[in-house]
Amino acid sequence: MLNKKKKKNNNRLLSIFVILIYIPIIISVFVIFAMNKDLHYKEEINIEVGEKLPSLKDYLDTEDLNRVNKNITWEKDLKVDKDNKVYYSGTYDGYITFRDKKIKFKLNVIDEEAPTITGAKDIEIFINDEIDLLKDIKTTDNSLNKVKLNIEGEYSLEKEGVYNLKYVATDAAGNTASKDFTLTVKTKNTPKIAEIGTTSKGYKITKVNDIYYINGILIANKTYSLPSSYAPGGLLDIFTSNFSKMRDEALKEGINLEIISGYRSYADQAYIYNNYVLSDSKSNADTYSARAGHSEHQTGLAADINSLNTNFIYTKEGMWLNNNCHKYGFIIRYPEGKASVTGYMYEPWHIRYVGTPLASELYNNGNWISLEEYYGITSTYNY
Ligand code: DAL
Ligand code: ZN
Repeated sequence: MLNKKKKKNNNRLLSIFVILIYIPIIISVFVIFAMNKDLHYKEEINIEVGEKLPSLKDYLDTEDLNRVNKNITWEKDLKVDKDNKVYYSGTYDGYITFRDKKIKFKLNVIDEEAPTITGAKDIEIFINDEIDLLKDIKTTDNSLNKVKLNIEGEYSLEKEGVYNLKYVATDAAGNTASKDFTLTVKTKNTPKIAEIGTTSKGYKITKVNDIYYINGILIANKTYSLPSSYAPGGLLDIFTSNFSKMRDEALKEGINLEIISGYRSYADQAYIYNNYVLSDSKSNADTYSARAGHSEHQTGLAADINSLNTNFIYTKEGMWLNNNCHKYGFIIRYPEGKASVTGYMYEPWHIRYVGTPLASELYNNGNWISLEEYYGITSTYNY
């Protein structure tokens, strides 16, 4: 009986001993196992251009995060902005070293947005003009990678033609955008120049593209006509810039100069002249109104100022214009008493731009010389 009890006590002691020895061993085995367990992580993450750079916590399972106290080392060419966002598309590798093992993480920065093209427009040039067709073209893209810009289509800058082309922009991810444009390559019109002869005073008369010039001065009168196709469409810059100077200077002296009729097309002139013929008579109209193709108003170099009344010369504006317009390159084109040479009655309002050297000579101290007298030419209709 006593022996039986003793044996029971021995068994209990053995159990306690076993428990005390094995439990820590088991626990240690578990701890060691847990410590040595491989990391669980995503090998690859995709983000869009402009999204934040993933960190270790995005790659690792949460329970593993505490086991690794490191940042990912990324390849050198991965650039981020101040907010840690990635604006360069592409594929990048990063890594950490964990228990002497290099663990690699992959990052795909995906760009699915096409670039945009601005500044595309149709272009017209002459053969062999030097031109950079890409000069005015700008591209924008969501990614900061370089956008390639090309022209698609065949063309030649040395051959006349109308070429339908395309600007094509391609970003680093291969997204493309395109804009159509037309390139027109034209042949230069070489001016048609003809020497017509000389005036009675020995000046050369030249015809350039059917327009008459004497000593470089365009002539339009009853003898020398303009083709109906000659249509500058408005007063020429040389007229308006010099007229502005003159008007500003006149205004300082209290003189107000206004253009009441400037450029008139061939058709405008035909309408005006025909009305005068109907309301007055052809012979009368011819003394003050030019037939279509014979008016200086078609040149873009002449205009009527303030009034169409001969008494304009007695106004302060008329007198100022008469005495000062030559300083700005203008002449009183139809001076008083010169109808037999100019073909027209006195028009104190009609000025014509010829440039200051000639204007000052024709001013002749207030005793205006007409272009017809100066060059020795006629102004008469032959029809
Ligand atoms: N009054 C001028 C001559 C013209 O008609 O052009
Ligand atoms: Zn006029």
